[in-house]
Amino acid sequence: MTIITRHGSASLHTRKDGSKRLFINGRLWMTNKEHEYQEHEPIKHMYGHLVLGGLGIGLAIELAKQNPAITKITVIEKNEDVIELINTDVKVVHADVYDWVPNEPVDCVWLDIWVDRAGGTRSYLTKRYEEWAGVVLCWPSKWWAKN
Ligand SMILES: C[S@@+](CC[C@H](N)C(=O)[O-])C[C@H]1O[C@@H](n2cnc3c(N)ncnc32)[C@H](O)[C@@H]1O
Repeated sequence: MTIITRHGSASLHTRKDGSKRLFINGRLWMTNKEHEYQEHEPIKHMYGHLVLGGLGIGLAIELAKQNPAITKITVIEKNEDVIELINTDVKVVHADVYDWVPNEPVDCVWLDIWVDRAGGTRSYLTKRYEEWAGVVLCWPSKWWAKN
């Protein structure tokens, strides 16, 4: 059986076995399959104030909470429906990662807004956030590629 919860353009499909799928405007955006955990592995190495670009189902938040070196989490999410749908006790800012500017020091940034994997948008965003943070990675970057 699948339980479906919705808010506007966003819907979360949760199965009895715990598997989750987030759809936005009918398109699959995120799951909690094993490969997603593997692809979010860099979060295990991050520290201090972590900024997460894209709330999704909150898998990155889950990993960040397991890392004691992370002292603060701020999530930037542009879709209000996703914010309403996904419950989290972490601070979520309703903004676009292309516009948002931090008003306090940031140590690490993990961007997972599902833009092109290797093209200009990705390198543009990385450069933009490197202005404020020492470590900036975009999904599906590997931690060891940067360090
Ligand atoms: C692949 S999901 C993120 C999954 C997330 N890492 C997790 O752990 O569940 C991408 C998210 O980024 C959001 N998003 C897309 N473009 C964005 C933008 N320009 N600024 C902020 N959020 C954006 C989408 O609404 C969606 O919630």
